[in-house]
Amino acid sequence: MTTARAVSVALQKGGVGKTTLAINLAERLANRGHDVLLVDLDQQGNATEGVGLADAYRSDTHLGHILDDNSDVTAGDVIRSADSFDVLPANQDLDSVENSIRSATFGELWIRNEIVDPLLEDAYDFVVVDSPPNLGPLADASLISTQHVIVPLRMSEPSVSGFERMYTQQILPIRKEIDLEILAIVPNSLAGDNEEKRIIGDLETSEFGQFLPSFARSAHFDDPDSPGPGLRERIAFRRAWREGVPLAVHDPESDMLERLDELAAIVERGGVDDAR
Ligand SMILES: Nc1ncnc2c1ncn2[C@@H]1O[C@H](COP(=O)(O)OP(=O)(O)O)[C@@H](O)[C@H]1O
Ligand SMILES: [Mg+2]
Repeated sequence: MTTARAVSVALQKGGVGKTTLAINLAERLANRGHDVLLVDLDQQGNATEGVGLADAYRSDTHLGHILDDNSDVTAGDVIRSADSFDVLPANQDLDSVENSIRSATFGELWIRNEIVDPLLEDAYDFVVVDSPPNLGPLADASLISTQHVIVPLRMSEPSVSGFERMYTQQILPIRKEIDLEILAIVPNSLAGDNEEKRIIGDLETSEFGQFLPSFARSAHFDDPDSPGPGLRERIAFRRAWREGVPLAVHDPESDMLERLDELAAIVERGGVDDAR
């Protein structure tokens, strides 16, 4: 197990917590003393907006220009700073970037070769990518550029089957070409219903059980001092997003910060490790 310096937060489904995790993982890694870049690859720009950079979403200069050989725009021209980390914002024009990636040979490698690798070499300790909610060239480019993935899951059947689809239709095919590791599966927005008990139990005994962090294991159901496993449903996550700041800034006392910090440690370690 080695440090994962780049990680995608991905699942081909909306509303599971990708953006929330990406923003707060970037913040926790920065809080641990690292130089961190958050890359927003979702054309909806929720991560960009959630760190207070909505104006960058409408900017004329964007990620697409960094990839364009006919433009002299560099990453430094597009990257902005937010809170304790930097951000490569999404843009309303990311659709056209996706089309260029689709029509080019090896277009899926552009983001890695022209953005992520050079920036990890020169400027950042960690890169966290907020992946798009659909399968396609940008989603593939995200996983290929980071080679590590964290998967947030809601405790519902559509979310779990979304992950199974992603595993067979995206992760396994990419693995035929390059290494791609799942760092963690993170049950998110748990509120104490019976479904969560059943799904965490099923996950734990499946081949994917090894990817559950210790804070997401069913032992938490029996611990009277625990709020329960996973990332719990906390209104503070929504409020922080609306304010354009990470959870740690909105609510420094949040009981979920410790769990997000453990997720940052998992990225540092390159896996859930000896969590059991
Ligand atoms: N643990 C949580 N508790 C409460 N709300 C959450 C939690 N995680 C995410 N949310 C909210 O759920 C919505 C969807 O989350 P988001 O991170 O945008 O998902 P995705 O990026 O996968 O579409 C957002 O409004 C977000 O603030
Ligand atoms: Mg999102």
